[in-house]
Amino acid sequence: MGLSDAAPELDRQSSVPIFAQVKAALDAAVESGELRPHRRIPSERELSTLFSVSRMTIRQALLAMIDEGRLYTRSGKGTYVAEGKIEQPLQRLTSFTQDMAVRGLRPSSRLLGADLLPAPIELAHALDISPGSELVRIRRLRLADGQHLAIETSHLPHARCPGLLEHDLEKHSLYQLLHDRYGLDLATAKQTIEAAAPTEEERELLEMPVGVPVLRIHRFTSTRAGVVCEFVQSAYRGDRYQLNVDLR
Ligand code: GLP
Repeated sequence: MGLSDAAPELDRQSSVPIFAQVKAALDAAVESGELRPHRRIPSERELSTLFSVSRMTIRQALLAMIDEGRLYTRSGKGTYVAEGKIEQPLQRLTSFTQDMAVRGLRPSSRLLGADLLPAPIELAHALDISPGSELVRIRRLRLADGQHLAIETSHLPHARCPGLLEHDLEKHSLYQLLHDRYGLDLATAKQTIEAAAPTEEERELLEMPVGVPVLRIHRFTSTRAGVVCEFVQSAYRGDRYQLNVDLR
């Protein structure tokens, strides 16, 4: 398992509780890649021998790591290292494709649905179009390196991007298409984010473990000139995303 050589001496005189020292050592092993994502970690018994502490102490360290989303359990199979979270800064308007590319992850999409529908009154109002005028609705499963990360349903006034559905929406970035084909540069957005339990369908599509929440994001995206072009409803895996913001 590799950890054995590295198991550090615990400082039993320290004011830092022993379980926290064990956790720090395990955190370091996850960060260094010594304990790799989706690999099973040593059992409580093995860890208690390794660190010369009680199994209770090991359990306390592991529970804290599970709470933080660093480890997860599979019933009857043991405890595993979770995939690192994707840190998403909130200050900048970016597309999914850009977000993944800067992290060196390969973005892809699976089209779940694409159609035209008449704009309901409230949405028409928010998008500054007449009620009943055509909206393009695109529902996509978003993947990074083949992993299911999010479901996004975008609504766009058809008049601002006529013929959008004729493009290959699995191959192309939506924002890139809007820029290249329709001259729409999305520059600002209003976004709300809340945690929620996933629907059964979302849980299946996102291949999520039971008990993990989704981040439900609603966003109105506009061009620099203030033309609202998109309303998106997204569900991101809560165990894979961390949203960051600098406050002043
Ligand atoms: C982000 C936004 C969505 C937007 C999408 C476009 O994920 N939350 O509102 O629709 O990017 O992504 P892409 O250009 O990769 O299709």
